[in-house]
Amino acid sequence: MYGLVNQALQGLISEQYGDEKWNIVKKKAGIEIDYFVSNEPYEDSITFDLVATASEVLNVPSSQILHSFGGYWILRTAREKYGDLMKAGGSNFLEFMMNLPNFHSRIMLIYPKLSPPEFMMDKKSESELIVHYYSSRDGLSDFVIGLFEGIAEMFETQIIIKLLSTEKTDNWHDTFSINILNH
Ligand code: HEM
Repeated sequence: MYGLVNQALQGLISEQYGDEKWNIVKKKAGIEIDYFVSNEPYEDSITFDLVATASEVLNVPSSQILHSFGGYWILRTAREKYGDLMKAGGSNFLEFMMNLPNFHSRIMLIYPKLSPPEFMMDKKSESELIVHYYSSRDGLSDFVIGLFEGIAEMFETQIIIKLLSTEKTDNWHDTFSINILNH
């Protein structure tokens, strides 16, 4: 994944637990890179190793780290570094979600080697959405839930998310239901 992702993970861990802990995590994960460069692609294993090692060092389940990372990605990384792109995504939760399937095609103009997630939206009503998430990567469901919660928080919207099913064939496929409690 692009360095931007590892930079964000560094931001999350340093802000919540301190720089010292981040340095311990990085060292223990055996990563000999001083600084991640945002527009350089790195092996996915680096990101996954950082999450697994952070879980050990901080004594927090990986699922919880991924969940927090989703929120951080939206509310800090995306909003602070790509505010215009985020604004263009929609002016309320539902609109933003309905535009999500096309979102990373714009990002690919900035990061051409991106291997983006895919989303498919099935709008049941103004307050209920079935979301399909497909990925070439395994095990990011908690990250995705954190992302959706971050988007909801961005629009001050209350939602209830349920993971309905997960299947793994060639790709990872999660199905979520999202109920929107206020608009
Ligand atoms: C301007 C904002 C955003 C930028 C710059 C961005 C960029 C990226 C980058 C660089 C990656 C790593 C993939 C790679 O390097 O191959 C990624 C992955 C991902 N992004 Fe975004 N993204 C943005 C917004 C969003 C939003 C709003 C969502 C909402 C759900 C999202 C969902 C994901 C997911 C789930 C992944 C993990 C990849 C996977 O599932 O295989 N991103 N994004």
